[in-house]
Amino acid sequence: MAKGKLRSIAVMTGGGDCPGLNAVIRAVAKTAINKYGLDVWGIQDGYLGLIEDRMELLSYDDVSNILTRGGTILGTSNIANPFRFSVKVGNKPQSKDVSSNCVKALKARGVDALICIGGDGTMASAAKFAKKGLVVMGVPKTIDNDLYGTDVTFGFNTAVTTATEAIDKIHTTASSHHRVMIVEVMGRYTGWIALYSGVASGADVILIPEIPYRLRKVCEYAVGRSRRGRRFSIVVVSEGALEKHGRMVVKRRISSSPDPIRLGGIGNKLAADINKETGLECRAVTLGHVQRGGTPSPYDRALATSFGHAAVELLAEGVKNRLVVLKGGEISSIALSRVAGKIKKVPRNHRLIKAGLAIGTSFGT
Ligand code: F6P
Repeated sequence: MAKGKLRSIAVMTGGGDCPGLNAVIRAVAKTAINKYGLDVWGIQDGYLGLIEDRMELLSYDDVSNILTRGGTILGTSNIANPFRFSVKVGNKPQSKDVSSNCVKALKARGVDALICIGGDGTMASAAKFAKKGLVVMGVPKTIDNDLYGTDVTFGFNTAVTTATEAIDKIHTTASSHHRVMIVEVMGRYTGWIALYSGVASGADVILIPEIPYRLRKVCEYAVGRSRRGRRFSIVVVSEGALEKHGRMVVKRRISSSPDPIRLGGIGNKLAADINKETGLECRAVTLGHVQRGGTPSPYDRALATSFGHAAVELLAEGVKNRLVVLKGGEISSIALSRVAGKIKKVPRNHRLIKAGLAIGTSFGT
């Protein structure tokens, strides 16, 4: 789209909810309305609402007083893929490409560009829409911090804060009862939340998918602490962590979802395994969706505002089909086509792993 031709945009939030979504919606809509006088359509429930043609014009008032609110005023969905939408033919579910209907629905309202706020699943579809000729702009969301191309996603900082506060509280029961307390955090196939919250809370053991653990090492570490008079241990485990030569623990499969696998259960498995091997009393706590809830941290509010503002500025400049990112402390963007199908894992030489090892934290190796 040529510079200056932008009149109307649509905005949607896709995938799991995340603290800071409303802050992005607010920044997008206020920049678009205030600075450029654009129409802003809010699509309801992510790609599901786009498929079902559910969208409303947003006013300045609609996006006021939402900066601190968790969740998303637009609603979201992580089970709708416009390129493989599950429909029933007779009694049988079948996948259908309904993306052309989505493009038509946007064109019918005169929408010039679509801002997709989401994680890797949302960006994969956004990249496909770009190939179909739609002008799109991505904004990187997820508590997991696993989106390729950006140093950080909004929502991650809040999730780490929530997890750290919870782990801090677990310390009292661990030390009073001389237990091994295992805290399972989210993160899907990456260990960003576990690594940051584990280091921040002074966890004794941090287990992440990028470093498959040896049960023997974890047990030796906990027993060693007990023998030295430190009669409790805190283990922070990412939901995607796995034993060396083992498998991730899958909680459920959701066939209609772009990523059907839902992880969960490694905390309980670990508690049973450590208890069996050592006789130490163990308890597992799964933090779950608590990590996605609540008001965004100040850092996430500011980051989300920068991302939302940048998305509109780029579109106004005629830039298209990119993901807004934070790189080296600066906001920039990368082509959506470079993001699709990739995830950002914790590098083995990450500074927090080095620091953790140096201060005696076990990574189960
Ligand atoms: O991607 C965010 C996330 O919370 C992951 O950490 C977790 O694995 C997944 O979503 C849970 O998804 P659902 O809300 O569908 O259970």
